[in-house]
Amino acid sequence: MITWALLAVLLVSALLYSRWRHSYWSSRGVPTAPGSIPFLGHTLKLLNRKKYRWLIIDEMYRNHGGSLFCGLYDIHNPNLMVGDPDLVKAVLIKDFDHFADRRSFKATNPKDKVFNEMLTSATGDHWKGIRSVLSTSFTSGRMKGMFPLVEAKAEGLVDYFHRQLEKDPVIRMKESFGMYTMEVISSCAFGLETNSFEEDGIFPQKAMEMFKISPFRMAKFLLFLTVPKLAKLLNVQISHENTEFFTDVVIETMKQRKTGGKRGDFLDIMLETREDQNEKTDKKKPKYPLSDETVIASSVLFIIAGYDTTANTLGNATFLLAKHTEEQERLREELKKIIEEHGTLTYQGIMEAKYLDGCISEALRIHPPAHFTERCCTKNYQLPGTDVVIAKGDVVSIPVWSLHHDQRYWPEPEKFDPTRFFPENKDRIVSGTYLPFGLGPRNCIGKGSLALHCVGLHKKKNGKPLH
Ligand code: HEM
Repeated sequence: MITWALLAVLLVSALLYSRWRHSYWSSRGVPTAPGSIPFLGHTLKLLNRKKYRWLIIDEMYRNHGGSLFCGLYDIHNPNLMVGDPDLVKAVLIKDFDHFADRRSFKATNPKDKVFNEMLTSATGDHWKGIRSVLSTSFTSGRMKGMFPLVEAKAEGLVDYFHRQLEKDPVIRMKESFGMYTMEVISSCAFGLETNSFEEDGIFPQKAMEMFKISPFRMAKFLLFLTVPKLAKLLNVQISHENTEFFTDVVIETMKQRKTGGKRGDFLDIMLETREDQNEKTDKKKPKYPLSDETVIASSVLFIIAGYDTTANTLGNATFLLAKHTEEQERLREELKKIIEEHGTLTYQGIMEAKYLDGCISEALRIHPPAHFTERCCTKNYQLPGTDVVIAKGDVVSIPVWSLHHDQRYWPEPEKFDPTRFFPENKDRIVSGTYLPFGLGPRNCIGKGSLALHCVGLHKKKNGKPLH
């Protein structure tokens, strides 16, 4: 009897505690999106596998105050969804010093060392230090230098398509672009030949596995969200086990670089920067020098961050072009003309291809690979024009997909119209409503590399285009 009474008291206390935590937004006058349940908040709603996550978020964006802002709960943690373009820009650009971080788990498992060191998870000055060094790897000069490497991989992709077509008229474009992207990134990042186009290509397989979220991984993630202290105490590993595979590859390549020659790839750039830092006198040494861990983590991250996003973009772009044959023909004509003018396909030629830019930009608008992005508040912040104060530690999320599909900003949002992005139409785009690569100082560091990958979209074999 006493045990039951005790249990009842515990349950009621837990419920009251959860209710109190879930009154965070209403007590601040912020509308709360429906669907929050005791203990789990909106997490269960957002994890519903029967509906795409971006559509669930879109419903909140459209119906429950999300287009300005509305409150959510990740388990018990407050998350403010901000959808107003001016507020989006305030958070991501203007008042970046209040929102320089992303949510960070700081896992304690030794196997998470690489994960914790990645640019995506790094925080504060540490992030700033790594980001400023890595940014030098992505200048247009560097991209241009890598063009021949990418061109060779694009030839490999076209060969692969022809070989596949002999076996089966159906080609899985997303998977094929996954192989191509893996080839390009591993070649440009560390001069690795991954044989991705072969049947037993292990690299794309390992990378693809990392994007499958098993119930076990989800449970670990939820544990970090609910009781991070317990997750750390139990030494729960948050990074995918395949991270180790890529880490070993990078370590092995670094060893080879000590004896072998340079290639001018990302790994070389990072290693050179580190040598420069080491040679500096104590006073001039940067506060956060590039450690071995940072070099390894950044190389592994380039694979993870660039693989699925780029393969998705190329896959979606070809899918849209296959459905819109007029647009496809117009793109083909543009590229033929550019190739005639330049004699061959060059980096400069791709940069001049404005219809190609429109097609890729429009594919990224309709199907942004990252359908939302988020920041963690690092010091209390009053949302401009409102009484709402976002407290340190609160998460702010931006519904990228919804902004891209809002007809207030994009007339006929479901229509594939590459001309929206023509230079003469660009001033019609409301700033803060197009963010496939995020915005502000913490946006995608690799966005410039997408133009390079586009070579794979319009290579021919022996003058014969693929249809
Ligand atoms: C079409 C391809 C890609 C898309 C759509 C994409 C999208 C994004 C988005 C939305 C973010 C978050 C930005 C924000 O929070 O404001 C991001 C961050 C990032 N991306 Fe990409 N990305 C792409 C390709 C790449 C490539 C090829 C690389 C590397 C080689 C890369 C490396 C990164 C890194 C390191 C970050 C974290 C930046 C930081 O925290 O400072 N991405 N990306």
